[in-house]
Amino acid sequence: MSTAARPVTMEKIASLCKRRGFVYQSSEIYGGLASCWDYGPLGIELKHNITEAWWRDSILARDDMVGLDSSILMHPKVWEASGHVEGFTDPLVDCKACKQRFRADQLAGDRCPECGGELTDARQFNLMFRTFMGPVEDTASTVYLRPETAQGIFVNFQNVLNSSRLKVPFGIGQVGKSFRNEITPGNFLFRTREFEQMEIEFFVKPGEDRTWHEYWKTERFAWYQRYGIRRERLRLREHGPDELAHYAKGCADIEYEFPFGWSELEGIANRGDFDLRRHAETSGKDLSYFDEETRERFIPYVIEPSAGVGRPLLAFLVDAYDEDVAEGEERVVLRLDPRLAPIKAAVFPLLRKAGHPEKAFAIRDLLKQHFAVAYDQAGSIGRRYRRQDEVGTPFGITVDHQTMQDDTVTLRDRDTMQQIRLPVERLVVELQARLAARPAA
Ligand code: GAP
Repeated sequence: MSTAARPVTMEKIASLCKRRGFVYQSSEIYGGLASCWDYGPLGIELKHNITEAWWRDSILARDDMVGLDSSILMHPKVWEASGHVEGFTDPLVDCKACKQRFRADQLAGDRCPECGGELTDARQFNLMFRTFMGPVEDTASTVYLRPETAQGIFVNFQNVLNSSRLKVPFGIGQVGKSFRNEITPGNFLFRTREFEQMEIEFFVKPGEDRTWHEYWKTERFAWYQRYGIRRERLRLREHGPDELAHYAKGCADIEYEFPFGWSELEGIANRGDFDLRRHAETSGKDLSYFDEETRERFIPYVIEPSAGVGRPLLAFLVDAYDEDVAEGEERVVLRLDPRLAPIKAAVFPLLRKAGHPEKAFAIRDLLKQHFAVAYDQAGSIGRRYRRQDEVGTPFGITVDHQTMQDDTVTLRDRDTMQQIRLPVERLVVELQARLAARPAA
């Protein structure tokens, strides 16, 4: 029974994340570092499950995709060729009175939104973090922390082609950290200065780009629903011509209705041949593709489904968050897809004596070879269920008096709260079956 009168808020999500070890403020004991976050023991499991699901579905399950892990630091020429040195900027204004800084394109009027003070003229602010390679801090040794993982894929296009038997159309996927010196980060994990991306660069023949663009929009839109995000909180929004990034011929965003409004989860862009052409021109290397069948040589066009990890993770948490009454008690429950849940099952001894803990330890050790499992013997069984419901653990296994006689346990489902009794020897197979697909709602 959902309590619709109490909607999910960002405060509830942030508080749950901290209380239960999903996400902490970075460097908290020193007062925190703005817009940087650390994933705790449960957060890292959830994040890992999301990137793993993306990797499995986008790369391993397909014949036309391979993976890559390129370095964060790259030759500075990469960022000149890609247009980021010149064009990866946001318009910045300062308030002359309170000294706060804002993105000019996000302001409603021409006065400071905080104090009403006068604003400076807008100037372009480059979002790339700069640092120095080696001991000398001069222009020649300047390198950038990558603002997107995509360029690592473009500069390896020929390497991958030469070392594999791939033919266009094919794609290269990558998961990794990116960094942007955002002027106005905020909304918890939504806009941060250090974040992870899951990016695909899909290389196609010019002329087939529109079809592939449509294909990837459909595919990626379905992916979020496959892992439990409800359809009515997702929408696809086409970019207007004035919104397009400097490299894009067209772009659509998959947006989610967060508590703070509709916002981008993932962008799916048609980058044309912008990147490969620019890298070919700047490096002097041939980055064209020869089609054996048609005997044509061309620079492939690129369709790019580019998602963050933090934003989808936040959306999965918001979408899964629920408050209801279970077994006569109010509870917070995360109705995460079992495949994404950080802990798959928790094992509870009914008593702290009579051999129950020893049996529960043995079951935990058996299950640990297959799944992330928790053990909890503190407090009433109801409280222990509540603790696991709150972090989204889909299954609870209880060792009781009957277990000691016939080696059966109860298996409780987080969402239906139904319990079945089954032999310990069937537990692994039963859990594997239940984790293989999202159960019907
Ligand atoms: N390579 C294309 C690219 O980077 P983008 O729309 O700038 O495109 C893609 O970023 C995705 O990366 C976004 O949809 C978002 O999920 C994530 N992202 C971008 N900037 C972010 C930030 N400051 N904090 C968290 N995630 C961010």
